[in-house]
Amino acid sequence: MDPGLVFQGSYLQSLSVACVWGGDTHRRLSSQILLVPSCSVELPQRPPRHNGRSARGRRGAMAGGGGSGVPGSGASGGEQPGGGGVDYRGAVCLAPMVRVGTLPMRMLAAEHGATLTYSEELIALRLQRCVRKPNAAHGTVDFVDPKGAAMLRVLPAERCRLVAQLGAADAVTALRAAQVVCRDVAAIDVNMGCPQHFSVSGGMGAALLEKPETVKDILTTLTRNLDVPVTCKIRLLAEPRRTADLVRTIAGTGVAALGVHGRRREQRPRDPASWEGIRQAVEAVPGLPVIANGDVFSYSDVARVRRATGAAAVMIARGAQWNPSIFRPAGFLPLEEVKKVRKCGRRAVRSGGLTEKRTTLRGASGSGITYRTPSTSCVR
Ligand SMILES: Cc1cc2nc3c(=O)[nH]c(=O)nc-3n(C[C@H](O)[C@H](O)[C@H](O)COP(=O)(O)O)c2cc1C
Repeated sequence: MDPGLVFQGSYLQSLSVACVWGGDTHRRLSSQILLVPSCSVELPQRPPRHNGRSARGRRGAMAGGGGSGVPGSGASGGEQPGGGGVDYRGAVCLAPMVRVGTLPMRMLAAEHGATLTYSEELIALRLQRCVRKPNAAHGTVDFVDPKGAAMLRVLPAERCRLVAQLGAADAVTALRAAQVVCRDVAAIDVNMGCPQHFSVSGGMGAALLEKPETVKDILTTLTRNLDVPVTCKIRLLAEPRRTADLVRTIAGTGVAALGVHGRRREQRPRDPASWEGIRQAVEAVPGLPVIANGDVFSYSDVARVRRATGAAAVMIARGAQWNPSIFRPAGFLPLEEVKKVRKCGRRAVRSGGLTEKRTTLRGASGSGITYRTPSTSCVR
């Protein structure tokens, strides 16, 4: 079966997996990994280090990627393994968005200037069972689950800016899932802010905000074992002091950057984001690039939020969903212009399989639109 044809509904499947899973298993495994950092539990083969570099201690503005030589490499022509360098300072990112952050939307955002593009949240429990399959027909690398559904599809051209976001509740599952995709992405992010029931009930997302030991466990395990930068995305806690404690814990794990959504778990999108709360988080971790997120609805807001918070980078969700040209320093293009059918350099991007109906531009159907490969290619 062509995995490219089986993409719809994959998220719903992952939700049902997340919902039935929970309990103490993850805590047991997590504590094992804390006690034995070399991972005595059975884990996938760790990719070899490159250039003698360690994944540790690469916190900061620049962090390199690697990962060639792991089993299963040798994808379709023209591919180069590795994640490339990630410069968080000054980055303007497409935020992770379920059903939105799929390949066409990521390419559109990059075409208009997004420096980093996040995948939608990938449930680690499911991703760990996916197989990496080069898709010669589309020129992509697909991560296909046992039922043949592609959970993530990556174009080689986006590897230097693609951040795969994981939904994970424990270190072992997070690492297993990250190792499936890590050599095809620029960085790995862990979602620690999703307030949805499926996420919290599975011990993922915002549930982690109350579990600093698990946060530490997951992030330390990832930073120790991966050759790509690791980040996480949190929400604010009720008291600034608790947010500061959490971000300091996170900073101590060796992450390359930290995304802070300026809302608390119980707040809805209509509630204004607290840029002041983000500023307090930034001040708690001098030296760690913070990616400010919340209520950025135009390119001029990017400078405003950076000034107000002192954050190194900015992340945009709904503003990009409404019009992906928000990333243009010169200002919005009319949505009709953004939606225009474009000539594609790659069959993968022309293919109907990639113009997924799941990718929704607010005010546009998303289907029937073709996207061209952005001129911004990876520079390593
Ligand atoms: C449709 C949609 C899907 C989202 N999915 C995710 C997700 O998968 N992971 C995540 O961390 N946040 C997710 N979010 C939250 C956004 O990343 C972001 O934190 C939030 O929308 C605030 O940013 P904004 O004010 O720019 O919209 C989602 C938001 C929207 C609107």
